[in-house]
This record gives sequence, C-alpha cells and structure tokens, in this order.
Amino acid sequence: ETVTEATPVKAPATPALPDAQTVTSVKHWTDRLFSFRVTRPQSLRFRSGEFVMIGLMGDPDPKTGKQKPLLRAYSIASPAWDEELEFYSIKVQDGPLTSKLQHIQPGDQIILRPKPVGTLVHDALLPGKRLWFFSTGTGFAPFASLLREPETYEKYDQVIITHTCRDVAELDYGRELVDSLKDDPLIGEMVGEKVKYYPTTTRQGSPRMGRITTKLQDGSVFADLGIDPIAPETDRAMVCGSLDFNKDMKDVLESFGLREGANSDPKEYVVEKAFVG
Ligand code: A2P
Repeated sequence: ETVTEATPVKAPATPALPDAQTVTSVKHWTDRLFSFRVTRPQSLRFRSGEFVMIGLMGDPDPKTGKQKPLLRAYSIASPAWDEELEFYSIKVQDGPLTSKLQHIQPGDQIILRPKPVGTLVHDALLPGKRLWFFSTGTGFAPFASLLREPETYEKYDQVIITHTCRDVAELDYGRELVDSLKDDPLIGEMVGEKVKYYPTTTRQGSPRMGRITTKLQDGSVFADLGIDPIAPETDRAMVCGSLDFNKDMKDVLESFGLREGANSDPKEYVVEKAFVG
C-alpha cells in the first residue's frame, strides 16, 4: 500500500495542548543548564529582550484526574527576527517544571502563551553611547536575544556583556553566542568591533574571578577593558539575574548616577529577574 500525503492522519491519542508549540532542537550544556528551540506562532510579535510564559501539562490531580498547565516566565533568547524561539534554562532535579522540561526532545510539544512582556527592551532606555548587559547564570538569556538584535548596534557605539557564573562550563552558552555574532549573516557587519565580552567565575578558577559587582566597585572592569567608568551621560544598562544580584546591581548602578527606567518612563537602566527553579 502506498501512503500518500493526502492520507488522513489519525487523531492524536492525547488532546493537543493549549497554545502548543513543537520542540525543534535541544542542547545540554552542563548537568544544570540546557537550551532549546521551538516553533514560533505565526502571529507572535515581540521585542527582543521580552519574556513569555512557557511550560508543560502538570501531573493529573490525584482526586479529580484533571491536569493544569505548569507555566513559568522565560526570557526569549532568540531575536525578534528569528523564525523560531529559543530558550535557555536551568535544570532543577526537584523543580516542578524544570525536572520535566529537561527531558524534552525534538518533536515534543510545550505550552507557550503568546503574550510577550518585559522591561529589558530598548524602549525603556534613553539614548546613550555604551550599552551594558549584566547577567548571572540563565540571566544571560534576554541578552542572547538583544545581542542578535540589529537595533542594539544601530543605537550604541559599544555593547559590553558581562556574565558571572560559578563554574567555567556555565559560561559556554554565552561565549558561543558571543563568538557567533561576527559570522551572523544578518548582524555580523553591524557588530564589527562593538561587542566586549567580560565573563567571570566565582567558584572555579578562570582567567577572571570574582563577582561583577565587586569589579565594578573597585574599578577593575574598566581597567581590564581599558574604558572610562560608567557615567549617566554615556552609559545605559540592563540587568538580569537572581534577586540578590539584581538588588546589588541596582545599588552599584545608582552609585554611578544611573536611574531605573521603565517602558512608560525610559531612563538609564532596567532590571528583570531571571527565571529560577
Ligand atoms: P557566588 O558564587 O559568589 O555566589 P547562582 O548559581 O547562585 O544563581 O549564582 C550565579 C552567579 O552569580 C555566581 O557566580 C554567584 O556568585 C553570582 N552572584 C550571586 N549573587 C550575587 C550578588 N548578589 N552579586 C553579584 N554576584 C552574585
């Protein structure tokens, strides 16, 4: 028997998920970190740096047997022009969502609520000369989007991305992304020499050790990069990491005279919490 494309497909055994998207690729970076790509709903428009709610169906309720979606906020790590969506996630062995999400394979479906929001967007910052991205751990994700966004290079002369992790291997996703920018057919030429990458580790030995907050306060970042210190006239910043990191970074940036902005009230810096657990 010849099966043609016109052969009606059998109805799937389980009902389709609400807002389902299909996983197209998965990459495991360490035993704690992975990234994956999914199909993009045709109608989904977003600004590079924004986040959406994604997840999976939870376990059936023991009493009713009903399943509820288990959703978490995830920064979109791909730029607004990409035809797929990319995400960068931690794996927590007893995390309600990531304990399951870490097992997704190409062809599987996830839930994606197509309502992008967030403050790590160009519109929330006043014009400036240098743009800083400060991240820890999976807080790199929104900057993986913004580093591939043409507007970033149209608006700024210099883009400095800092990434602080415990161990060297946790820097891999970010380093590979930064390394790939120059060869990107769409933005490679715009990037030129504009991007400076400043990775640090805090637990495992590496060429640059220590928290970025300390290195900003003692001025070693500026000395290492051979650039002027942060000033409100020239510098704009976006921050994404743990709650403690965000709080400490706010204090550091305010000490340089920068003020927190928002979509409706653009200023010199913006902050967003990275997804954890
Ligand atoms: P440290 O090892 O000194 O805690 P985590 O894996 O706990 O989310 O941390 C990711 C990275 O962010 C680690 O390198 C950690 O450094 C660093 N970090 C955590 N909290 C802060 C903070 N308040 N200020 C600066 N860096 C921080």
